[in-house]
Amino acid sequence: MVLISESREWKALADHVTAVKQTHLKDLLQDDARTDALVRETEGVYMDFSRQNATPDTLKLLLDLAQAADVPGKVAAMFRGEHINSTEDRAVLHAALRSPRDAVMEDRGQNVVPEVWGVLDKIKAFSDRVRGGEVKGVTGKALTNVVSIGIGGSALGPLFVHTALSTEPQAMAQAAGRQLVFLANVDPVDAVRALHSLDPETTLVVIVSKTFTTAETMLNARTARAWLTERLGAEAVSKHMIAVSTNLKAVAEFGLNPENAFGFWDWVGGRFSVSSAVGMVPLSLQYGFPIMERFLQGMHAMDTHFRTAPLQDNLPALLGLLNVWNTTFLGRSTTAILPYQQALQHFAPHIQQLSMESNGKGVAIDGTPLPFETGEIDFGEPGTNGQHSFYQLIHQGRVIPAEFIGVVASQQDVYLQGEKVSSHEELMCNFFAQPDALACGKDAAALRAEGVPEHLVSHKTFTGNRPSLSILLPELNAYTLGQLLSLYEHRIATSGFVWGINSFDQWGVELGKVLANKVRAKVAEARTDNRPLSTADGFNSSTVRLLNRFLES
Ligand code: F6P
Repeated sequence: MVLISESREWKALADHVTAVKQTHLKDLLQDDARTDALVRETEGVYMDFSRQNATPDTLKLLLDLAQAADVPGKVAAMFRGEHINSTEDRAVLHAALRSPRDAVMEDRGQNVVPEVWGVLDKIKAFSDRVRGGEVKGVTGKALTNVVSIGIGGSALGPLFVHTALSTEPQAMAQAAGRQLVFLANVDPVDAVRALHSLDPETTLVVIVSKTFTTAETMLNARTARAWLTERLGAEAVSKHMIAVSTNLKAVAEFGLNPENAFGFWDWVGGRFSVSSAVGMVPLSLQYGFPIMERFLQGMHAMDTHFRTAPLQDNLPALLGLLNVWNTTFLGRSTTAILPYQQALQHFAPHIQQLSMESNGKGVAIDGTPLPFETGEIDFGEPGTNGQHSFYQLIHQGRVIPAEFIGVVASQQDVYLQGEKVSSHEELMCNFFAQPDALACGKDAAALRAEGVPEHLVSHKTFTGNRPSLSILLPELNAYTLGQLLSLYEHRIATSGFVWGINSFDQWGVELGKVLANKVRAKVAEARTDNRPLSTADGFNSSTVRLLNRFLES
């Protein structure tokens, strides 16, 4: 395979780096025509990337690179259901999960949309009956609490959406009197945290696992089953436990009623599964199906934009291209995701998995080792909290491209003696100020003019020229949340398409799982035989010492 780094377009961008390094954002931002060329909007989602270390020439070269990498062809292949996840021989059709009833999207010649809507209709009917009190627990009480057990892609996305909706007025009204709790970690502390305040009589446990074999989830599922049956008897399993999985055989083997199982398909990657039953079951139970249908509609609107808009106006594609520019060409390996919205507090952790599990690869899609690095390290925290934590480093330490996300109208307001407190205005002032502080900085001359003592001038200098981009949403509701999530899902796919990798497999998580199995077996053996472990058990001397220290306790 000819790697994209061999292309003329790649080399043109590599050459262009020198020219861009000679520019400074404080000067570039004086150019109104440039700003005009680096702002886009679709359906209320406004994106300003004028604070990237980039010029309109950079954009042109990136668009040429996208053509050379056949991004449009790869996007079309994805929506056509081609098996672009070639190492697992699977289609990548998560966009079908939010397509309208009459859409046609095919895997192996079969339209998958009717099946998608079959499950959605089942989720709607079930969540309506639970929420309406028609489905009851073994003691005849309504099921008002839901514990969603799952990890990674089976937890992070639904948790992010739940947190974002939990303060949105319409969703909040729908959730009155209900509780949704997530249990992911195999740490017993997490099980105690999730379950200790719940009443089993009013609790419905949803086991969410694509494979239904993930060790952590299955152990937590058994813990929850014991928690229910010890208090309510064996009958509780069929009335208080349901499942979401692609492995319906394993669901039945676990002892669950297949009627209480909600399926999805191998063409949905775990980290892309929020819009499948993985997210739709727990979230519809909490907020009702109509709210979650709005979420799907928002995702579909952005999917359609991604599929149809020309690259130069295509928000997810532009985000993905700029990501390649920052990480691969400018060598900035980290991205800060900075929502100025407390409701988006779990957005960065979700994007962390979505991006890092998708694009943290060392070989091209055909297995050829790559001569450049892919993927970026994503981290983040809502503003303004982050400002009091790690912003020192991004202002005066390392250069970390930042993605600011703001919302025009707040989900909530607070009042003091009848007067609206200006908290949202305050929050947004910071959202507008930080990108300019990063971009423009403050030089020694300005500091001296302010009378800053000479020995402090270098400490107080901000070099500036630190890139960011700003995304502004009109408000944060189920629909715009769907737009935002789809924007990032496709941003990540676009970067992967340019790098020429498979963004849809995750072989890198396997080795640790295999080694954990070996450790589990040997620890059990050592405990049974009451003996210490040694290198003869197949561990190196460091691991032997660590394990024996653990076994001694
Ligand atoms: O961490 C690896 C992974 O396979 C993720 O891709 C996935 O989202 C997670 O584990 C959970 O898997 P499952 O839904 O099969 O339990």
